[in-house]
Amino acid sequence: MNPIIRELEGALGGALAGAGLAGGAGPADFRPCADARHGDYQSNAAMVLAKEARRKPSEIAAAVRAGWGGVGLAEVTVAGPGFLNFRLTDAALVRGLAGRLAGRYIEPVDAPKTLIVDFSAPNVAKSMHVGHIRSTVLGDCLQRVARYVGHRVISDNHIGDWGTQFGKLIVGLRRFGSEDRLAADPIGEMERLYKRAHEASQSDPEVQEAARLELKKLQEGDPENLAVWRRFRELSQSAFDGIYGRLGVRFDETLGESFYNPMLRGVVEDLVARGVARESEGAICVFFEEAGLKDKPFLIRKSDGAALYATTDLATVKHRVETFRPDEIWYVVDMRQSLHFQQLFATVRRWGLGVELRHVGFGSILGADKRPLKTREGDPVKLEALLEEAVARARAMVDERRGDLGEEERRDISEVLGIGSVKYADLVQNRHLDYVFEWDRLLSFDGNTAPYVLNAYVRIQSIFRKSGDPEDAGYELGPPSHPRERELMLRLLQWEDVVAQVAEEQRPHHLCFYLFGLAGCFHAFFEDCPVLKAEGGLRSHRLALCRVTAGTLRAGCELLGLRTVERM
Ligand code: ARG
Repeated sequence: MNPIIRELEGALGGALAGAGLAGGAGPADFRPCADARHGDYQSNAAMVLAKEARRKPSEIAAAVRAGWGGVGLAEVTVAGPGFLNFRLTDAALVRGLAGRLAGRYIEPVDAPKTLIVDFSAPNVAKSMHVGHIRSTVLGDCLQRVARYVGHRVISDNHIGDWGTQFGKLIVGLRRFGSEDRLAADPIGEMERLYKRAHEASQSDPEVQEAARLELKKLQEGDPENLAVWRRFRELSQSAFDGIYGRLGVRFDETLGESFYNPMLRGVVEDLVARGVARESEGAICVFFEEAGLKDKPFLIRKSDGAALYATTDLATVKHRVETFRPDEIWYVVDMRQSLHFQQLFATVRRWGLGVELRHVGFGSILGADKRPLKTREGDPVKLEALLEEAVARARAMVDERRGDLGEEERRDISEVLGIGSVKYADLVQNRHLDYVFEWDRLLSFDGNTAPYVLNAYVRIQSIFRKSGDPEDAGYELGPPSHPRERELMLRLLQWEDVVAQVAEEQRPHHLCFYLFGLAGCFHAFFEDCPVLKAEGGLRSHRLALCRVTAGTLRAGCELLGLRTVERM
């Protein structure tokens, strides 16, 4: 929370206490006024407390106004049936941004939690495709934000590195494998091997049987098959690492599904012993009483004894609880898996592991035809190809705009712009919704896009270059001298609250909308308020505003996982 908003809360608490209301500590719930003519911040505390105290809201609001002690802070007015509107004083605006000018952007949360963020989680021997963008980009942003506000965060990549596909892969490698191809394009070759073995097994029961046997050998720990599996895994991991490097995403842990294999039997036994799971037609299931899950048992052991995705996820929760003692685990996974997570969470509750679990679900990325994005051949779009294309398109834009810059710088800007645009296009959507992927829109300099936000930052950097001042010049904020300055200052004050909201709701689009609005405020300010031509205190004040705006844009981009550039 911005220190000024905290002061406002304190002053309101005092005024409410003066009006005879429950110690004064009411639900302040300050939010920016939708209409600037009414004020800067609004509170519905009078309405809420009136209900509890069985008094009229207008009477309480009037009493708050009469007993308002925060005169140096804000002016209070009452609107409608009892809304309290606050207009910050100039001094309060300056004070609210003083910490930021000194480089303090956030105060850590009062009660830090330990959080595990489970995201990305691609599957071995397959390329990461467009379906993994959302989990990777959203998950990375959320783990950054959670850390930033002061939580202890463990990011964990729950890679799909175990499963029935390895039977066919092993057969594929032995019968159709090419070392050369495996060296040149490991993932492509693994996909080809799987496809060939799969097709062969459809028409030839002998291949089918061979795959079953290889899988069984692998599961029983056959050293040769284990070695092949390890190789598939390593090849995949290095391909994933290439993409993560390019995206600037890192994990504290990469504990794939195979890591939990030795624990699966014990988990099933424990759940049965505690009466959480029971036998049914030879299999073992968890049955639920909860509405919506009544007729949807959670299968944790098949009748042939095999464990499932569900069993692994149960073992994973237990391991995480015992190893990291998390307060919460966030699963950044496609909404299409929401039934799985409802079942998982309900099972964990009954198991009594004492951890809060959250499915941070998201919708699909659609093509222009409003169907899940596919290549012209009908395959899922590969993430690597998508990033390549983004950077190539950005490069064309940069070449056109900034032919004056050297090759290396143009290459770097294109990378930042291309990758940043793809990420931003994803983060700007309310994650529950599907969205249509449109190159022209996401790379546009107009609209709520990465280029627009980055451009505001770049514009400010150019002001500083032209200023001729040293980098550590001591600018000082003053009272707003123009309505555009006041708007910009107010916007800047909202930063802490927006970041907190993203952390609480796990919704990065709030941050994108904030940065978009901030960039807009800055452009409007810059249009109407000369900065370098101003003199003395006014110049210093306006440059201070530029500095805080640039710092806020940059901090926001960092939280979204976007790099910034100095020119473009
Ligand atoms: N590998 C899975 C997939 O690609 C996602 C795993 C998500 N995490 C989890 N703990 N289930 O669909």
